Amino acid sequence: MNWGAIDKYAKSLIKEAGHRIRVSFYTNISVDTKASANDLVTNIDREIEQFFIEHITRDFPEHRIVGEEGFGDQIDSLDGVVWFLDPIDGTMNFVHQKRNFAISLGIYLDGVGMLGYIYDVMRDDFYHATRGEGAYFNDERLPRLENTPLSEAVIGVNAIWATPNRYVEHEPLIELVRSCRGTRSYGSAAIELAYVSSGRMDAYMSMRLSPWDVAGGMVIASEVGAVSSTMKGEPLSLLGQETFIVAKPGLQQHILKHHIRLK
Ligand code: IPD
Ligand code: CA
Ligand code: CA
Ligand code: CA
Repeated sequence: MNWGAIDKYAKSLIKEAGHRIRVSFYTNISVDTKASANDLVTNIDREIEQFFIEHITRDFPEHRIVGEEGFGDQIDSLDGVVWFLDPIDGTMNFVHQKRNFAISLGIYLDGVGMLGYIYDVMRDDFYHATRGEGAYFNDERLPRLENTPLSEAVIGVNAIWATPNRYVEHEPLIELVRSCRGTRSYGSAAIELAYVSSGRMDAYMSMRLSPWDVAGGMVIASEVGAVSSTMKGEPLSLLGQETFIVAKPGLQQHILKHHIRLK
């Protein structure tokens, strides 16, 4: 497999898709809802996914593609090359803020993340990594992360998880929010993974993410020494929705041990 060539190809598709998304703001965007009234999707989410899938299936017919909007393949194993694509991660931000959303792409071989990309479209910030070759923010090599104690950590968490919910005991999470230096919530899992990878946040966690939300970011995070796992501390299966945490290594262990009690 020529990963260098696939890397170049993926980068140019992502840049072109980003351009199309920026141009879409000059058109009428139609907003629909999916599973609930706050679960938004637009014609642009769908068109961008189709743009990727048309190109990838034509140029790499033996690869499989898993995309959020369902135009790709349904998979029940990670055999071979699988592209995990979120055409717009942070659709609510795309619709309401016209910023703070990203294209997220991870390319895996037999379940191992080989290439990872997060493109913050409106800032034109590109986070990318090749397995074993380090991670980059635009052309700048990202340094390996050093550990941070909880008292100095900035943690990405959606406030909803610190209220009573059916996934996790909320009292230890309230304690986490009180004990860390601060919390942030950007509304795009991909951007939050990019921020942990580039040292702008120290951890990010969510109770329910899909493979396309995290596949690209996990490759980037791993290249700078961040640890990604489920809330049980296990590797993600990438075959369905799972709990998720990415953090500097000591911090991940501390949070899982002291602040997560799954129901
Ligand atoms: C969502 C965003 C959000 C996260 C949700 C995701 P989408 O992705 O990443 O931050 O909290 O769980 O579904 O639907 O905007 O691609
Ligand atoms: Ca969505
Ligand atoms: Ca997403
Ligand atoms: Ca999406």
